[in-house]
Order: sequence, then C-alpha cells, then structure tokens
Amino acid sequence: MKKTLVCNQKMYLTYDEAVLIEKEMKVLDDKDINLIICPSYLNFNIFKDYELCSQDAFYEDKGAYTGCISAFDLSLRGIKYSLVGHSERRLYDTDEVINLKVKALLKNMITPILCIGETKNDRELRKTSQVLKKQLEKAFKDIKLEDDMKVIIAYEPRYLIGGKNTLLKEEIEDIMVYIKKVLDNMGINNYKLLYGGSVHDKNIESIKSDNFDGYLLGAASIDINEIVNIIKCIK
Ligand code: PGA
Repeated sequence: MKKTLVCNQKMYLTYDEAVLIEKEMKVLDDKDINLIICPSYLNFNIFKDYELCSQDAFYEDKGAYTGCISAFDLSLRGIKYSLVGHSERRLYDTDEVINLKVKALLKNMITPILCIGETKNDRELRKTSQVLKKQLEKAFKDIKLEDDMKVIIAYEPRYLIGGKNTLLKEEIEDIMVYIKKVLDNMGINNYKLLYGGSVHDKNIESIKSDNFDGYLLGAASIDINEIVNIIKCIK
C-alpha cells in the first residue's frame, strides 16, 4: 500500500519562495507515494500539477463571511482534500464549527483530513484517549458516511507541533490502535490514518510503521532535502 505524505506549507512561503520549492520538487520520484500539497491559497496555482489540499474550508457555500473560502468554492476548483481542525485552527474553531466544516467538505465531495490531538496538559493528566475520542465523536456528529466518502485522520500531539522531537513509534502505534477502535465503534471504516507533529528526516526512520498510512509534515514540507529523504525512507 502506497504511503500518503501531506505537506502543510502553512503560511511559510511567499509566492517567489513557493515557485523555487516547486522547481526543486521536480526531482521527486513521487510515483511510489500519495503526495498531497497544502499551499497557501495565493500559491495554489504554483502546485497545480500536484494533488492539492486546502488548509481549511468554511462551511457556508456563499455569503458575507469576510476572509473565508468555502468548501463549495474549493470543490468547484477541483480541490479534493482539506485540512480541518488543525491544531493552529482549533485556537479559533470549536468542535461544533469543526463538525459543520466536516459536513460541508463531505457534501462537496472533498476528503476531510481531520486533525486531532491532545495538549501537553491532557497528556500529563493521562487524558489523551478521552480527548481523541471526544474530538472524533464531535467532528463526525450526525454524519453518515456514504460508501463513496472517505476521510483521513491525522493524529498530531498538539504540543509536538513545530519542534524537533516526536513521539516514540510504540506510543504512536498504540494510539493508532485506539483511534481505529473508536472509528470502528462509530461505524467509520473508509479511512486512512496519518501521524504528524515534528516529523523530520532525522526521526522518520525511527517512527516508520506499517500500522498507519502516512505522515503530515509542517516545517519539513518546505525543505526539499527533508522531503526527498522522508520519501526515500517511507516509500
Ligand atoms: P510540524 O507541523 O511538522 O512543523 O510539527 C505539523 C503540522 O502542523 O501539521
């Protein structure tokens, strides 16, 4: 099974910098991998030859929502994926808003890449499983997945995002088993599981696993050497 690699470029790149990275990415041998790029909206056209993912999507189709881009409009542009509930968006979005966004994405046939993860405090209080279960249940509340709808779940411990160190492979695998159990209980079975949070070329070998489907990169996704090395390791 091909691994999935989602590259979340966040707000890291200006247009000119994105053009440079895209040129460098021509060396990638990406046929052995599902490579999905999440550029800033202004840089979407630069990565038009790649599978594109929005970094977020608003739930109303149209209206007086300054600064928002709707799932509906993204679908008209042929966008197939969108992040939703990313840790950096959960600062503004409640579980209820995330649920509305997941519904809007599915309605528009865009695969949600739902990010879930606990804070450091949750972890210290041993509440990781409880938090993940709640996030999953709230995100998929009142949603019945049709056979042709799939979802991607990205488990990202929130306190590990934007650093150098990540979890141990055993810990990630245990949590993935737990997430599968929760999804199973919810009747969701058409999904892929990703791991993210400070995944880099220096630690990818140590967390490589056949028990989940791929990785969500942040900082590493704007460094061609990191991307090349990570793909080499996981393909
Ligand atoms: P990071 O970001 O790899 O820089 O930790 C991951 C993410 O925010 O999805």
